[in-house]
Amino acid sequence: MKQVIYTSYGNSEVLEIQNNPKPSIKRKKSLLIKVHYSSLNAVDWKNRKGNLRIFSGLLKPRTKQGFDVVGTIEQKTDDINDFEIGDKVVVLLGNFEGGALSEFIRVHPKNVVKVPDRLPLKTIGGLPMAGTTAWLALLKNGQLKKGDKVLINGGSSGVGHLAIQISKAYGAEVTSISSTKNLAFCKALGANHVISYQKENFLKSSQKYDIIFDVVFNQSLKKTKHLLTKNGTYIGTTPSPTMIKELLWSKQAKFVAVEPHKQALTDLIKLMEEQKLEVKIDQEFELENIVEAHRYMEQSRTVGKVIIKI
Ligand SMILES: NC(=O)c1ccc[n+]([C@@H]2O[C@H](COP(=O)([O-])OP(=O)(O)OC[C@H]3O[C@@H](n4cnc5c(N)ncnc54)[C@H](OP(=O)(O)O)[C@@H]3O)[C@@H](O)[C@H]2O)c1
Repeated sequence: MKQVIYTSYGNSEVLEIQNNPKPSIKRKKSLLIKVHYSSLNAVDWKNRKGNLRIFSGLLKPRTKQGFDVVGTIEQKTDDINDFEIGDKVVVLLGNFEGGALSEFIRVHPKNVVKVPDRLPLKTIGGLPMAGTTAWLALLKNGQLKKGDKVLINGGSSGVGHLAIQISKAYGAEVTSISSTKNLAFCKALGANHVISYQKENFLKSSQKYDIIFDVVFNQSLKKTKHLLTKNGTYIGTTPSPTMIKELLWSKQAKFVAVEPHKQALTDLIKLMEEQKLEVKIDQEFELENIVEAHRYMEQSRTVGKVIIKI
């Protein structure tokens, strides 16, 4: 089977497509998924460049790429009763696992969620990591409730565009920050207010927010505290030294750490079924063009998600 592999850190050219044996499912509680779509997340190119090696604790590059899996069950072990061969499923792979950019993947069924027939697999390919990050940030870290005022810094990003919609689905009033060209995109997703970071310094605003979700992470609690309500929460996405200091210093600072989360993925699929959530596709690439896809994603200018067709 085809699988994206890299054996040294570097630019997107280090990625190669190898022909490797299809995984077997001799272990207990295993599902073999035929992968139809995946997507790129910022973490994929950061891993490939070696930017995150301090957190992975590995000296060697992580050889397998990709965390988002949507596909059909090809085989299963006899000890699994809640899935059938042919079921359409979605799963987020663990942070130190990866390997979604493969024709087949073996997974434990614990965090696997069924996909209803009428949802398109292609868009769901962009859901697992970006959606789970947004869900955990807003609902777990931020304890989002109806009527909250939410500020999303980076509303056009993979994570941000889903965060706008999740906030709206849970009854929040949303302000989104993006470049001028992406204001209309964020507005169309449901943002009540849109601010261009090229035209306005939102730090000078007199508004107060219950949640500031700093998706692009170019702020801090210190810089945004005057915009938070008394019990408001600032949520960051990168474990920088400033973030770590603020986590120790204030309960108002939170760090979202994405991990496979069945409840989150189940809720996100339900929101999609209810047509309250849609994954917007910036571009779709074939697996064969993974080098080009990484080069594109690394520019950090994508609007919504980059989908990979396996
Ligand atoms: N901690 C975790 O568990 C976790 C999980 C997932 C992601 N993350 C992190 O979250 C961040 C977002 O990830 P992603 O995959 O969603 O990224 P992405 O899709 O690659 O983000 C690109 C988007 O960011 C926007 N952007 C760039 N600079 C901006 C700025 N100064 N202000 C507002 N928007 C800006 C761009 O729009 P414009 O062209 O309009 O600027 C573009 O739409 C990454 O740093 C990623 O590593 C963390």
